[in-house]
Amino acid sequence: MGLTTRLDDYVSDRRKRVDRELERLLPHSDTPPGTIHAAMRHSVFAGGKRIRPILAIAAAEACGSPFGIEAPACALECVHTYSLIHDDLPALDNDDLRRGEPACHKAFGESTAILAGDALQTLAFQILATQDLPAETTAAMVAELATAGGTVDGMIGGQVADIEAEGYDPTDGQVEYIHRAKTAALIRASVRFGSLYAEAGTPNSMRHEALSQYGAKIGLAFQIVDDVLDVVSSSDALGKTAGKDASQSKATYPALYGIEGSRQRARECLGEALRALDGFDERAWGLRAIADLIVSRTS
Ligand code: IPE
Ligand code: IPE
Ligand code: MG
Ligand code: MG
Ligand code: MG
Repeated sequence: MGLTTRLDDYVSDRRKRVDRELERLLPHSDTPPGTIHAAMRHSVFAGGKRIRPILAIAAAEACGSPFGIEAPACALECVHTYSLIHDDLPALDNDDLRRGEPACHKAFGESTAILAGDALQTLAFQILATQDLPAETTAAMVAELATAGGTVDGMIGGQVADIEAEGYDPTDGQVEYIHRAKTAALIRASVRFGSLYAEAGTPNSMRHEALSQYGAKIGLAFQIVDDVLDVVSSSDALGKTAGKDASQSKATYPALYGIEGSRQRARECLGEALRALDGFDERAWGLRAIADLIVSRTS
């Protein structure tokens, strides 16, 4: 089997497992009040890549626990989707298109979109708190997700810095901070979920550190590539509005380093991420392949 086929099969199998679990975990749209559940489902099932939950599964596999992490992995996707709904609001990036569909506020109005984002965040913690997992695992995952989505070096902190940097010429350090916080933090947490799950909340620290390093590096690469695609790709291919970063004077890697310089930095992150996995055996195949995919993706 060729490498592409193996990776396609790998990703599509894990994505199906995640989607089945999301379908089970999200309240149905005929559960009252139906509008909010319809809005949550609109954004979650519009067709995301599911990179974060797939990374959690891949990291659990690398630690020898290939099954059972699906529900906690869906909590990551809920927080991610909430961040996208809020990111698209007129007060933030003001984007009409998301995952190839009208953004949540376009389809349901701003008030419902704000509440749908909030609701996906509370659902994420409800999911974590109600799984049949050792108490230490649950507590560690709750802390991990809250921190990664939070204000200190987490997603919200990064979003604040991203908005505040609009229209200014940022330094290298500022752009790296924005990308680490708004995007890499949740991706790193996704990978760390794997070792928290496999090792009941008290993971072997060397393995956990190696996965953390891998997650931080592919997380940074992920946002660098997102910035590059915003410049070189089309709205059709991306399922979101291309060319938006320049029009909003966002602090991006291409604005600082150009397209080739940004690609080079993403490749450097990839190399560092793969080196962090040196101590892992063949069971980390998924993590290695996804790292390559993150840098070579076209959408
Ligand atoms: C988009 O994330 C927002 C960023 C953090 C760059 P994804 O590219 O993972 O979006 P979906 O989940 O596939 O829609
Ligand atoms: C958003 O970064 C990161 C989030 C925390 C949602 P972007 O604003 O670049 O994400 P896209 O390009 O709209 O998906
Ligand atoms: Mg944004
Ligand atoms: Mg945006
Ligand atoms: Mg972007």
